[in-house]
Amino acid sequence: MLQISDTHIAPEGVLVSGRLDTSDALARLVERIGGMRDQIGPIDALLVSGDLSDDGSAESYTRFKSLIAPLGLPLCVVPGNHDKRDAMRAAFPKNLPEAGALDWSRQIGDIQLIGLDTLVEGQGGGTLSPDTLAFLQSALAKADGGPVLLALHHPPFASGIRFMDDIGLTNRDALGEVLTDYGGALRLVCGHIHSMIVRDFAGHIALSAPSPCSTFAHDRRQDAPVGYMTQEDGCLLHRWDSGFQSIRIGPVAGTGPFPF
Ligand SMILES: [Fe+2]
Repeated sequence: MLQISDTHIAPEGVLVSGRLDTSDALARLVERIGGMRDQIGPIDALLVSGDLSDDGSAESYTRFKSLIAPLGLPLCVVPGNHDKRDAMRAAFPKNLPEAGALDWSRQIGDIQLIGLDTLVEGQGGGTLSPDTLAFLQSALAKADGGPVLLALHHPPFASGIRFMDDIGLTNRDALGEVLTDYGGALRLVCGHIHSMIVRDFAGHIALSAPSPCSTFAHDRRQDAPVGYMTQEDGCLLHRWDSGFQSIRIGPVAGTGPFPF
């Protein structure tokens, strides 16, 4: 399972924050992955963990779809705080429910992939609604102790990046209560903080993905400047083989291999 997060695609001719060409950045990552497909072997699907779009416009989703088309992978998407629920639903009618929250569950190979909607439209922070928590509870019951990959945009942990933690997931404890009872292998994957951070959560491993277009300095000072860094930071690859393995794919290949 390939996980790309926070692509922040804008309409043609628009630079994000007047500076970032996020479409070019995603095209570079797609090309990079295309160039290493024979090395990494078969990929079941592409999971995109939110903020596909920067402005939630129909045009940005159309552009997103054409940018990822060269991968030729089945698509699974959860919304981020920059996305718009109805525009996403319209753009991905085969991948998302027709009404209500954008929650879904799909068997992919040996694993149950569950996507949850944390979007509160008009806000940066995220929440799991009572309906979404109930959906998770029943999806876990159906997974029946088998391996689960659980995807949501907002991490259920603080990153230390203050201005991002201010727009975090509001009800982490409620999520933790549902997950703590799951007896099988479960890996939680998310995005939002444009950084790869690994952390324990409710007895499982939670992991945030980097973004292909930008990152944030891990600056824990009280007076840390608010803003993003222009670094293109790659994506993640998750495998199940009697345990979860998560690998970061960097944005560029180095030279080599050289003999030892
Ligand atoms: Fe986000």
